[in-house]
Amino acid sequence: EKNGYAHFMLKEIYEQPRAVRDTLRGRISAASGHIELPGLDLSHDEIVHAERILIASCGTSWHAGLVGKFLLERMVRIPVEVDYASEFRYRRPIMRSRDIGLLISQSGETADTLAAQLEMIAGDIPTLSICNVVDAALTRKARGSITTNAGPEIGVASTKAFTAQIAALLTLSLYFAQCRKTMPQEAVQSILRELEVLPKAMEEALRTSAPVCARLAKIFSNATDVLFLGRGIHYPIALEGALKLKEISYIHAEGYPAGEMKHGPNALIDETLPVVCLATKDGDDPDSVLKYEKTLSNIQEVTARGGRVIAIVVEGDTAVSSLVEHTITIPRASEALLPILETVPLQLLAYFIAVEKGCDVDQPRNLAKSVTVE
Ligand code: M6R
Repeated sequence: EKNGYAHFMLKEIYEQPRAVRDTLRGRISAASGHIELPGLDLSHDEIVHAERILIASCGTSWHAGLVGKFLLERMVRIPVEVDYASEFRYRRPIMRSRDIGLLISQSGETADTLAAQLEMIAGDIPTLSICNVVDAALTRKARGSITTNAGPEIGVASTKAFTAQIAALLTLSLYFAQCRKTMPQEAVQSILRELEVLPKAMEEALRTSAPVCARLAKIFSNATDVLFLGRGIHYPIALEGALKLKEISYIHAEGYPAGEMKHGPNALIDETLPVVCLATKDGDDPDSVLKYEKTLSNIQEVTARGGRVIAIVVEGDTAVSSLVEHTITIPRASEALLPILETVPLQLLAYFIAVEKGCDVDQPRNLAKSVTVE
């Protein structure tokens, strides 16, 4: 039941700290630096000699796959390809013996994702699943799996399953990085320490961003179009923010890489267009800082044309707030953990806007929770 929340979606948004904690529980130990993924069922040799990871998934799970690509390529230095599961088989994908297939799905019953898995099995590569349902069709056919322990997700809009998928992908990336020695153990351990307190930071993000998002929803619920911008690992979160909004509020929304604006979408900007910008940074990470600085100039391009910017920033940021109309603050974190934290306000923004518009939040029109046809 809804436990006093107005909708399942809101309840599930608030369950995320617990969902992430349960997904990490028993798998990581910051004190010992140990990571355990017994369900993976891959030999040390298979992990060490893997040459590529092929990810296929749909919708929100596809966005998690894109985050996974950034994490795996950065931490493990292994090439990763991410496909929409519905497209995978139609490009006659090239599979080689040292590839590993990775399917991501909340339900584990999505027809397109199952079809992509069959294609991988036919291509003779091992498949892994990241799935929220223990005995789903996907997990049964997979050689190995990581269960996200988010608990049943009722709202059609996926929320807690998404952040739990990213937590699972972080664990997988760190585990591979350890096996392949692509990160110093101290760096692994430092992220493990941060992961252990991540649920607390998520609680903080919920607490501080909810009232701001509720207020912004009143201002922006009449918008007909909304853009979401992000760079690097934040770009898939921009896509996810746009999907959440369009799915439950029926407002046209698009996610774009911030740097692509000048190649076309800038033409859309006028004083009626809300632009949500992911402008977070990890001050200790030069790549993250560089990305942030570039995003700042993208924000200036939007404000110069009258666009109405809502920026997601980390605590203590003053550079962005002096440039834009609205900011939403989340706790500081390492770059790899920021996607989980910045997802929270985007979900809340979509939720409050949909409520403001009187939409059926848990059961949006034309959509099913689990898509069992191709
Ligand atoms: O169960 P799955 O994760 O395989 O579902 C994939 C998509 O159908 C799903 O994420 C969909 O995009 C959500 N409604 C988005 O909120």
